[in-house]
Amino acid sequence: MAEKMDQIAVDPDFYAMSTGYGMDPHDLQSDTTSLASAIARGRVENGRRYQATKEDDYCYGINELRHMMFLVLDHDQLNPLFRAPIGDSPKNILDIGTGQGSWAIDVADRYPSATVRGVDIFPPPVSWMPPNCLFEVDDVLREWTWREPFDFIHMRLMYGAFPPDGWHELYKQAYDALEPGGWIEQMELDVRVYSDDGTLKKEHQLYGWGDMFIRCSERAGRSLRTHETMRSAIEEAGFVDVHEEKYKIPIGPWARDNALKEAGHLQYGHWNAALEGWAMWLLTHFGEPVPWSKEEVHVFLAKVRTELSSPHIHAYEPANRVWARKPTKEELEEKEPNIKAETSP
Ligand SMILES: C[S@@+](CC[C@H](N)C(=O)[O-])C[C@H]1O[C@@H](n2cnc3c(N)ncnc32)[C@H](O)[C@@H]1O
Repeated sequence: MAEKMDQIAVDPDFYAMSTGYGMDPHDLQSDTTSLASAIARGRVENGRRYQATKEDDYCYGINELRHMMFLVLDHDQLNPLFRAPIGDSPKNILDIGTGQGSWAIDVADRYPSATVRGVDIFPPPVSWMPPNCLFEVDDVLREWTWREPFDFIHMRLMYGAFPPDGWHELYKQAYDALEPGGWIEQMELDVRVYSDDGTLKKEHQLYGWGDMFIRCSERAGRSLRTHETMRSAIEEAGFVDVHEEKYKIPIGPWARDNALKEAGHLQYGHWNAALEGWAMWLLTHFGEPVPWSKEEVHVFLAKVRTELSSPHIHAYEPANRVWARKPTKEELEEKEPNIKAETSP
């Protein structure tokens, strides 16, 4: 695959489709059964998660599509689930805002030695999970009550979830709840949409889409700029050995590279299914110059959908992943020699 931040090469055959992708975004069966990568196929064939009733009959949640998209995006990694070097036998892992729990379930499958906890304010709609995976309903902004220290704390797509002081408190609680030497990792999307070849133009609704949503989210007090703020917030909480990786995620299957084509295909399906959910609340409460009516949002989204399905717009969303380590015991002792005195019997 090309380097993740290179300009994404466009599939030259794509222009043959002059009237749109011709994919019914509601027909996720045809979307997903066409996937070519081993990772996506592995998940498609893993019937227990998708209530498969026969080989080609699957029922996907929209968040499951997004989880698969992330796996496809990192299909060239030995471990496409995360980057933090946590070793082969972690004991305690926490997934904050686990959503449908797909990440937590996959990590529990991969690390039978670990207890993987997924926490969310809503219970995940899963009927099966590995025995070492636990789902808990809780608000992570409240005081944490887990007793066992974690080796690894993970977050993905928590953008806009918390006000600034909530984030500050969350990273602090995560730092305190980790073993010395434990890892934190976070992956977030930039809600702004770009094209590198000028095919996304000022007159398109998608052009100003992300900036408008960011302004709305800031009026709501929970900024969507989490991808920009997480690195420094993680550093400020005391984490060291900070790493960052940046991505471009195509929206639509317009890329020449097969994996990016698949990722774009999944991302397109996800956008179509999730668009209204993202836009309706923000725009009807915090839209500009005044909150929008429901009808105005529907008209806007119809235009956005047309643009999304155009093979002539090569749009992508940036994303980034940050992972960092809590200092080891030795590093902590070196920094604050009193810690040793306090913790020694
Ligand atoms: C966009 S979803 C991301 C889900 C999942 N991490 C993924 O990558 O698919 C954000 C999740 O954070 C959860 N969440 C928001 N605020 C929370 C809180 N205070 N405590 C726990 N979970 C929270 C939401 O319920 C939602 O499931």
